[in-house]
Amino acid sequence: MTIFAWDDSIALNIPRIDEQHRELIGWINALHDAVRKDEGALVTGDVLSKLISYVFMHFTEEERLMLSCSFPGFTAHRQEHDYYVKRLKNIQDRFQEGEEISGETLEFMSDWIVCHIRGTDQVYGRFILAGSGGTGA
Ligand SMILES: [Fe+2]
Repeated sequence: MTIFAWDDSIALNIPRIDEQHRELIGWINALHDAVRKDEGALVTGDVLSKLISYVFMHFTEEERLMLSCSFPGFTAHRQEHDYYVKRLKNIQDRFQEGEEISGETLEFMSDWIVCHIRGTDQVYGRFILAGSGGTGA
C-alpha cells in the first residue's frame, strides 16, 4: 500500500531531479509500510534514517543546482528545505525516545513533500528549463 503514488503531473522534466523525487516518495512509502506492518523499531528506525539521509542529499543537490544558475528564489526555497529537515529530525528524535510514528505524521511527511514538489520545485524547474532552452539541466 502506498501513501502517495508518483505521477507525471508532478514532474519537473529535469530527469535527475524527477528520479530523486520518485525515490524520495518511495522512501516515504517504505516508511509507511514499515509502520503499518509493525516491522519493529529496528527496521522502522533504519528506513526513517535512510529517508532522512536521502532527503538531505536531494535537497543539497537541488540547492547546488539553484545556485549554479543563480536562481533568484534560492533563499526562500532553502528555508522550506530547512523546515522539512528540522521536522524530520524532530520526528526521528521522538521515535528514538520510543514514540510511535502516527498516521498523521506520515501524512504530514507525504503531503509536505508532494506539495513542495508541485509548487516550490516547479518554480525553479521552469526557471532552469527556460535558461537551458527547454532541454533540461
Ligand atoms: Fe525543493
